[in-house]
Amino acid sequence: MNHRESRTIAENERLRNAVRRNYGEVAASGSSGCGCSSSSCCGPSGLTSESASLAVGYSPDDLQAVPEGANMGLGCGNPLAIAGLKPGEVVLDLGSGGGLDCFLAAAQVGETGRVIGVDTTPEMVSRARQNAAKGNYNNVEFRLGEIENLPLADSTVDVIISNCVINLSPDKPRVFEEAYRVLKPGGRLAISDVIAVADIPEDIRADLAMHTQCIAGASTLAEIQDMLQSAGFEQVQVTPQDESRSYMREWVPGTPITDYVVAALIQARKPATASADVETQQPAADCSCSTQCGHSCCRMEIKVVGSGCASCKRLLELVKDAVGQLGVQADVFYVTDIEEIMATGIIQLPGLVVDGKIKTTGRVPSLRELKQMIQDEM
Ligand SMILES: C[S@@+](CC[C@H](N)C(=O)[O-])C[C@H]1O[C@@H](n2cnc3c(N)ncnc32)[C@H](O)[C@@H]1O
Repeated sequence: MNHRESRTIAENERLRNAVRRNYGEVAASGSSGCGCSSSSCCGPSGLTSESASLAVGYSPDDLQAVPEGANMGLGCGNPLAIAGLKPGEVVLDLGSGGGLDCFLAAAQVGETGRVIGVDTTPEMVSRARQNAAKGNYNNVEFRLGEIENLPLADSTVDVIISNCVINLSPDKPRVFEEAYRVLKPGGRLAISDVIAVADIPEDIRADLAMHTQCIAGASTLAEIQDMLQSAGFEQVQVTPQDESRSYMREWVPGTPITDYVVAALIQARKPATASADVETQQPAADCSCSTQCGHSCCRMEIKVVGSGCASCKRLLELVKDAVGQLGVQADVFYVTDIEEIMATGIIQLPGLVVDGKIKTTGRVPSLRELKQMIQDEM
């Protein structure tokens, strides 16, 4: 389901909080087989994380090759099986969890490549960073952030991978737009996720636990194709994995969830000509044009600086609304990392920085004020 128009800001916020709370508990528990009951995460309740990951397509060698604790049994497939990674490539993992796919990708892209994991749950990012330290990886990093507001610059990534995450997002069109933005021209998506194969009943859709279990938020194959194409992707392929029913039916034992959802592999490519067209119209060397031109050098950089608190998230949503209403070309980042917060110069949260200028600190301005603050920098 394309939820962009159908949910209020408060409802989206409730979903994001539920997801962070659940995966925070999963990360903190540190145990195997999700480390949680069947009602709190994607994945089976009665299996170890090892058997869960073997069931979705990882090999015993894969699981041996990563630091202990990186495999949390949270995937619904194996995106690396379709990513075709090559040495030297830059890889981004959306919703990196304990880092399983990042560490496997790191071995494939080698020392000349780089892997970045982004996750919205602070406890997951901490856990993944500890795992990276255990394994002495120097080509992997983990960033706290939302896949709807990626903390990465335009056209910097060769391959985006993701495993059982996008179904959790309350704004999937935005996720695909952000993926498109950060991919280099010709860059590709290799994603495993849960998709809907029948109308999901309203009582399941409304169930928060079913959402955090990667079921209630699933979109249909047609909706995913549509969102990817609208974002600009080509060579879109969404391939349902019918055999996934055998392990997904264990996710919520006693319920018919596999009547409604299955795992799928999702592939797409950003056209190789994507930025060449823009370059022709807007040469990178000359950015004297207005912020409305759409070229990456002319996009505004808006940082909402916060701690994850309710008013910080409220400010983020209002800023996104202001950007949408003004129709301004802008990258909105949610800055929660303490070092990055200090670098902005903001000492009272939440704060707002537009193109390097601090616009407000310690309060949530109204939508009207925010629009004015952004307009002042256009
Ligand atoms: C089912 S787990 C999958 C973890 C990992 N990909 C794996 O296969 O082990 C979902 C992960 O996505 C993260 N997540 C959910 N929604 C997110 C969002 N909007 N932005 C960033 N991360 C998100 C959660 O914190 C969690 O770590």
